[in-house]
Amino acid sequence: MTTSATTASADPSVGTIPDEARTQTAAQRPYTVLSCCMSIDGYLDDAGPERLLLSNTADFDRVDAERADSDAILVGAETIRRDNPRLVVRSAGRRAARLAQGRGASPVKVAVTRSGRLDPGAAFFTEGDAQRLVYCPSTAVKSARERLASVATVVDAGADGALGAVLADLARRGAARVLVEGGSSVVTQVLQSGLADELQLAVAPLFVGDSSAPRLVADGAFPWTADRRATLASVHQVGDVALLRYALSDRFVPSADGGGA
Ligand SMILES: NC(=O)c1ccc[n+]([C@@H]2O[C@H](COP(=O)([O-])OP(=O)(O)OC[C@H]3O[C@@H](n4cnc5c(N)ncnc54)[C@H](OP(=O)(O)O)[C@@H]3O)[C@@H](O)[C@H]2O)c1
Repeated sequence: MTTSATTASADPSVGTIPDEARTQTAAQRPYTVLSCCMSIDGYLDDAGPERLLLSNTADFDRVDAERADSDAILVGAETIRRDNPRLVVRSAGRRAARLAQGRGASPVKVAVTRSGRLDPGAAFFTEGDAQRLVYCPSTAVKSARERLASVATVVDAGADGALGAVLADLARRGAARVLVEGGSSVVTQVLQSGLADELQLAVAPLFVGDSSAPRLVADGAFPWTADRRATLASVHQVGDVALLRYALSDRFVPSADGGGA
């Protein structure tokens, strides 16, 4: 996957999801890892304007290693607006190792937006030199390109904006492993559509206790129920955080230590 910074291309095959990616099958999707940290009572954040840091230093470093292993990191637009994440590999050693492998220092950054309403000054666009892709529906492409063409490739995701097609398009662009880092709306869609191969869920030892805050997922039907339980692959303690790793597809890859992250 190309990892240098690019701008919107005149070539429509670069800025549009082709038909074959819209009708993707599981085999055409990248290996997809959902990474989230929630409070004991299931919240991803509090309702305040500042980002709530749920995790601890060791777990942030674990997530950094997951980023370094990935070809792309995907988030929803609201996470960019609320948290202003950099979405780069923080460890100099991991960046150097990626460069030695002929990869970019950090994975490609991917945002999905229906409105196209993203600030080109956000750290998503300004930090690091990884390629940045913004997927939005056809109706918003023109305005999104006007706003973001100098800082990202805006990809026409068609009418429905299904995340399966976005993931298939990332595979077409060379991404073998995608790390989905939220937020709630994106996590919900990925889980409900059965697009994830594994879930890495860190549980932080605190309560948010405010139903106006974003939960791990929204309401709806999920593939895992009382009759069809998900497979818990491993449980690890990372400082004061419990890391639960779930195998969500038959493509799940256990880690070298037999299942942990
Ligand atoms: N604890 C954690 O691990 C963690 C990680 C990440 C985020 N968070 C938290 O999660 C919260 C944000 O979650 P959220 O549910 O409000 O927002 P989100 O999932 O980050 O983003 C939702 C936005 O993404 C866009 N979008 C979603 N699905 C799309 C699709 N299929 N096609 C195109 N665009 C799509 C839309 O953008 P537009 O509005 O632009 O149309 C939508 O409003 C924040 O509070 C953040 O702190 C926590």
